This record gives sequence, C-alpha cells and structure tokens, in this order.
Amino acid sequence: MKITALAFSALSLLLTSAFATPVDLSSGKITLQLNIDLNQDSISTNAIGGEKDLFTFTSSHAVHATPDQVVNDTTPTGGIAGASGTFHFGINSATNSVCYNITLHNFAGEFSSPAVTATHIHEALVGASGPPRIAFPNPQVIGGITSTVRQSVGCVTGPFVTGVIVDGKDTGEGFHVHQIEADPKKFMSDTHSSVALAGAVRGQLA
Ligand SMILES: *[C@@H]1O[C@H](CO)[C@@H](O)[C@H](O)[C@H]1NC(C)=O
Ligand SMILES: *[C@@H]1O[C@H](CO)[C@@H](O)[C@H](O)[C@H]1NC(C)=O
Repeated sequence: MKITALAFSALSLLLTSAFATPVDLSSGKITLQLNIDLNQDSISTNAIGGEKDLFTFTSSHAVHATPDQVVNDTTPTGGIAGASGTFHFGINSATNSVCYNITLHNFAGEFSSPAVTATHIHEALVGASGPPRIAFPNPQVIGGITSTVRQSVGCVTGPFVTGVIVDGKDTGEGFHVHQIEADPKKFMSDTHSSVALAGAVRGQLA
C-alpha cells in the first residue's frame, strides 16, 4: 500500500516543527531523520491532487496491541489490564526507514527496558519472545495531565541501535526494514513498563 502526501500532511507539519526545535532523545542513540526536503517552498499546496508524493512508503502496518498477547519466553504474563495500543508504521525499504504513529491508552507505571527506549519492534513470532530490532521514542501524554492517552510520532532511519547487546552485538545492528516486509508475521511491536517488564501491550505486525 502506498501512502501519499494527503495522509501524512499533518505529519509533515509536525516533523517540520520538530526540526525547528530538536527533540531531546535522552540516549542520543536514536536519530530522527526525514527522507524528504523539509524546505517549506518544496511542500506543494496542491498535494491533494496527487501531483507530488512527498511521503512514499513501500508498505504500511497497523498493529492492535493488547495485554493478553504479552509473553515472557512463551509464558503469557498478562501485560497491563485495560491498556491498549495502536502502532501505525509506514516503511520505506529504499531508505531503510520507518515512520511511526504510536498511541497508547491506559499505560501505567514508568517506561522500563534495558534498551535505549521501552517501545520497540521485536523480531518475534506470535506467542514467543525475541530481540528488539528498532527502538522508538516512548509515547508521551497528550491532551492534558489527567489524560490516559500517550502518543509518539516521527520517523527513524537505520543503522538502528537498540542498546541491547547479544553475543557482543547490538540487536539493531545490520537490521534492515526489508526484513519486516519479507515476513511481517515474524515481527511484533510492544512497550514495556516498570509494572509489566515483559510488556504492557503487544501486537504482531501481521
Ligand atoms: C496518529 O494517529 C492518531 C489516531 O490513532 C490520529 O488521531 C493522529 O492524527 C495521527 N497523527 C498523525 C501525525 O498522523
Ligand atoms: C522472564 O522469566 C525469567 C524466568 O522466570 C525471569 O528470570 C525474567 O526476569 C523474566 N523476564 C521478564 C522481563 O519478566
């Protein structure tokens, strides 16, 4: 599926302002990058007509993440009851990048993970654990301090760094998003909490 400028016009504005005020990513290991020309003059005001595809993805994935899908190894842990997540991904395998729009409802505790962030795509089949391959900035509360909704929006481009070292190698090292497109059911997204270390919510990419 191809996503064009129409669907992501809001994202372009958001990312433009994100560049004006650089995002502080505490680890410094994640780089927000755009594969488009952010020069305002280049953004077509007539994009609705499809004359310019400002954002082109080679695939898109919508993940419904729930607590019941969370496992440690193969043992269900229950996640955080009442929590849910929507992970939208737009992948561009030509540039090894993935844009994300992640929304969490009723997350509890603090984000907690040995990785650089607690919000990931892991390589893991349904019902099994597996290493994180891409780490995303943790969703932050939107809509006021009493809100139960958290969101994280942006794009990341490889080379990926997760901060998790297995056999002397970062689990993001050498990872390319075309591996997701080759077999999305081998991948899942989740987020981890101090009160649900194995995961608060989780969902397969396919
Ligand atoms: C992200 O997704 C939410 C719904 O899940 C939507 O309301 C919001 O507009 C989206 N943001 C962008 C930048 O696409
Ligand atoms: C998973 O289970 C193992 C074995 O019981 C335990 O040592 C480990 O702490 C658990 N991991 C998480 C993230 O809960």
